[in-house]
Amino acid sequence: MANREKSIELLNIAVSKEIQTVLQYLYFQFHFEDKGYTHLAKLFKNVSIKEMMHIDMLSDRILFLKGDVIMKSADSIVYLDKVDGKMEIDIQKVLQIAAEMESKTVDLYNDFASQCGAAGDSTSKRLFEKLIEIEEQHEDTFDIEGDNFKKFGDTYLALQTIQRVQGNDEDGHEDIGTND
Ligand SMILES: [Fe+2]
Ligand SMILES: [Fe+2]
Repeated sequence: MANREKSIELLNIAVSKEIQTVLQYLYFQFHFEDKGYTHLAKLFKNVSIKEMMHIDMLSDRILFLKGDVIMKSADSIVYLDKVDGKMEIDIQKVLQIAAEMESKTVDLYNDFASQCGAAGDSTSKRLFEKLIEIEEQHEDTFDIEGDNFKKFGDTYLALQTIQRVQGNDEDGHEDIGTND
């Protein structure tokens, strides 16, 4: 087949991006949970699980191509700031960081899809195209949450606390990016 080495290299870069994303979203999830922002905690947990499934899909392809999976994060994660000994969560900023991570991944996977296509590896190309669709959904979700927070501010947060107190924190986000 075409240039296996090139595809393996690109697929492994994608694995490292997905690992970074999983770590980042889990980190945000822990802090949202700690603050009682149930809806956002669940959202980040669910999306991080989807990203983990992407690592699985990419790994399958790497092993099929007779490469090995390199398990390392592309970059370090962004940590929250401590103000007067307390962790500060700037929700708008967190949602913006997440939306930007998704958008950068979309750009990267578009480039990788073209490169795999040019190298004659149409299966890897299709894999990247499938992932692009899901990452675009994630970006959209984080954008919508950001807009809601901007519009409703404290009410948005108060509602999440009420949901938690009532034990009614199902948020319908189970389906995010499941068309994979
Ligand atoms: Fe992903
Ligand atoms: Fe994503």
